[in-house]
Amino acid sequence: MNKTMIALATAAVFAAGLAQAADPDAYVDYRKATMGAVGGHMKAMATRMKAGLDVPDDTALHATAIAGILESFPAAFPEGTAGVGKTKAKDAIWANMDDFKAKSTKGAEAAKALAAAAESGADMSEIGAKLGDLGKACKGCHEDYKSK
Ligand code: HEC
Repeated sequence: MNKTMIALATAAVFAAGLAQAADPDAYVDYRKATMGAVGGHMKAMATRMKAGLDVPDDTALHATAIAGILESFPAAFPEGTAGVGKTKAKDAIWANMDDFKAKSTKGAEAAKALAAAAESGADMSEIGAKLGDLGKACKGCHEDYKSK
């Protein structure tokens, strides 16, 4: 099999797995993978801006990805998955699910505002302010719901 066929076969195996009841540990893996991606998008944006790199301005792409991830993030915390696996997610999430969802939505909205500013060609000071708002939304959730 060539690489593409192997990738397709692997995808098919994973798709078949979706039909079964999900393993609680897999929710933890998923949370970490999505949050790791969010962290990567954030770092890419900040690095390009701070260092003034001569690469295309992909702020809107990264910010839109973050918004999409944060919109569905709370779904990765179903009942029965508190304290599962090796995680930094605090049990307080399940006791305060409405607030956790609100903080995720707030982050998604901050990311959308950043994407909109980047798409409209806003100046660096406005982009920087929107990036700062997004960073505050990350921190606002981590402070309450992620252990160090
Ligand atoms: C609604 C709450 C919430 C928001 C908003 C949020 N996070 Fe998180 N984040 C978490 C939780 C909970 C964890 C711990 C996940 C775990 O260990 O299972 C986490 C973990 C992480 C991690 C570690 C991932 C790993 O490899 O284990 C990174 C990096 C991260 N977040 C970056 C960000 C950035 C950057 C933002 C903002 C753009 C953000 N987060 C917004 C709740 C949030």
